[in-house]
Amino acid sequence: MQNPSRRAILRAAAVAGWASELTGGVASMKFEARETVRLGFVGLGGRGKSLLKNFLAIPGVRVTALCDVVKDRVWEAQQMMAQAGQPAAASYHSGEGEFQDLARRDDVDLVCIATPWRWHAPMVLFNLSQGRHCAVEVPAATTLEECWALVDASEKFRRHCIQLENCCYGHNELMVLNMVREGLFGELTHAETAYLHDQRDEFFSAGRAGDWRRYEHLRRNGNLYPTHGLGPVARYMDINQGDRLESLVSMSSPARSLAWYRDQHLPSTDPRRQEKYICGDHNVSLIQTARGRLITLAHNVCTPEPYDRINLVAGSKGIFRDYPPRIYLDGRTKGEGWESPDSYIDSFRHPLWKRLGKLAGEQEAHGGMDFIMCYRLIECMREGLAPEMDVYDAATWSAPGPLSELSVARGSSPVPFPDFTRGRWKGQTA
Ligand SMILES: NC(=O)c1ccc[n+]([C@@H]2O[C@H](COP(=O)([O-])OP(=O)(O)OC[C@H]3O[C@@H](n4cnc5c(N)ncnc54)[C@H](O)[C@@H]3O)[C@@H](O)[C@H]2O)c1
Repeated sequence: MQNPSRRAILRAAAVAGWASELTGGVASMKFEARETVRLGFVGLGGRGKSLLKNFLAIPGVRVTALCDVVKDRVWEAQQMMAQAGQPAAASYHSGEGEFQDLARRDDVDLVCIATPWRWHAPMVLFNLSQGRHCAVEVPAATTLEECWALVDASEKFRRHCIQLENCCYGHNELMVLNMVREGLFGELTHAETAYLHDQRDEFFSAGRAGDWRRYEHLRRNGNLYPTHGLGPVARYMDINQGDRLESLVSMSSPARSLAWYRDQHLPSTDPRRQEKYICGDHNVSLIQTARGRLITLAHNVCTPEPYDRINLVAGSKGIFRDYPPRIYLDGRTKGEGWESPDSYIDSFRHPLWKRLGKLAGEQEAHGGMDFIMCYRLIECMREGLAPEMDVYDAATWSAPGPLSELSVARGSSPVPFPDFTRGRWKGQTA
C-alpha cells in the first residue's frame, strides 16, 4: 500500500477521467486473430508458475517477457521455458514498477498478472493504457473504485481485461452450465456457493503467499475471495446477460481461528503473535438479482474443514449440489434422496471437456480446469473471437469483496450492487 508507483497509477486513471470518453461496451469485442499469441507474465510465484506451465503446453503460444520482483523466480520461469523448448524471454526483476517496462513492449499481446491482490488493478490499468490485453488473477480488484476503473479503462482503450476465474471451467461447473441451458432445472430461483478452504498453514508459511494474504485479514472484514464461488453461478444465471446482481447483505462471524492457530504454532517471541485479525472466520452474503433470484455466497479460509465450493443451483424442476456432486430432478429422481449425477455425465459433459479432457488431465493444476481455461483463452485469441469472460464479469464477480465489507461495517445493511454494464445487461443474451 506504500508503493508510490502503485498509487500513482491508480491516481492517473482517476485523473484521466477515462469514463468520460466512453466508446461503448467491450463484452462482444473480438480479438484481432493471430497465428501466435505472445504472452508476458508478471508475478511468478506459486500461481504465476502454474499458469506459465499451462500456457507453455498450448499450441500457438510464445512467451516473450517475464517479470517478478524476486530474481530467482524469473530464473526458474526461464528454466521452464527452456524445458518447453521456447527461446529465453526478456527478464524484469529490478523493482516493483518494472512491470511498466514489460507493458511498453510491442511484442506482447496478452499480459498474465498473478501478483498479490493490491497490485492487480494498477497493473491491469497500466497495461490496458499501453494497448495490452490483460489476463488477471482473482480477484481482479479489491475496491469499487478499482472495479469501475477497470471497466472504464477497458472501454476507453478497447482492450480486454479477463479475470482468470478457473472454476468456471471445472468439469462439473461446465456440465451443470450445460444442464441449465438445456432446461433441466426449469426456471432458476436460487444458488448457494462459497470458497471454504482451510489456508491456515499457508498463511504462516515462509516464502509462500502467506504474508500478503494474512495482511488482508488485519484490515478487512468481509468476503475477501468471492470469485471462485460466484463466477460459475453467475454464468448459470446469465448475470450481465439478461439478469444482474442488484443488492447484497453480508454478515461475519467473530474472527477466532487464525489467531488460535497462530498461537498454537508460533513461539511467543514471533512478531506475528502481535497481529490482530479482524476478518470474521465465516462470512455469508445474500445477493438478490434484478429478476428476484437469490444467491448465498460464503467465505471461510481459516476454520478447520474440508474444501468446499458448494456449487448449488436450483430451479422449478430440480437442484444440483457439489462436494460431492449430487442431483435431484422432479419426476426423474426416485424417492426423496439425492441421486448421483453419473448417469447424466455422458449426455451433458461440456463440449470443451469432450474435446480437451484428456489433454487437461495431463496437467495436474486443479484437475485440469486451469488448462481448459488457458486453452480456451488462447483459442479465442487465435481465432479472433471475443473472450468468454470480460471486464464486466471481472468487476461484478470481484465487487462482493468491498460490498460485503461495506455491509458488515453498516451492521449488515443492504448495499446496492453497481451495474458495471451501464444497463447493457438487459439487451444481452448468453
Ligand atoms: N485461480 C486460482 O486458483 C488461484 C490459486 C492461487 C492463487 N491465485 C491468485 O494468484 C495471485 C498470486 O498468488 P500466489 O499464490 O502465486 O502468490 P505468491 O506470493 O506466491 O506470488 C506472487 C508473486 O508476485 C510477485 N510480485 C509482487 N509484487 C510484484 C511487482 N510489483 N512486480 C512483479 N512481481 C511482483 C512476488 O514476488 C511473487 O513471486 C493472487 O491473486 C491469488 O489470489 C489464484
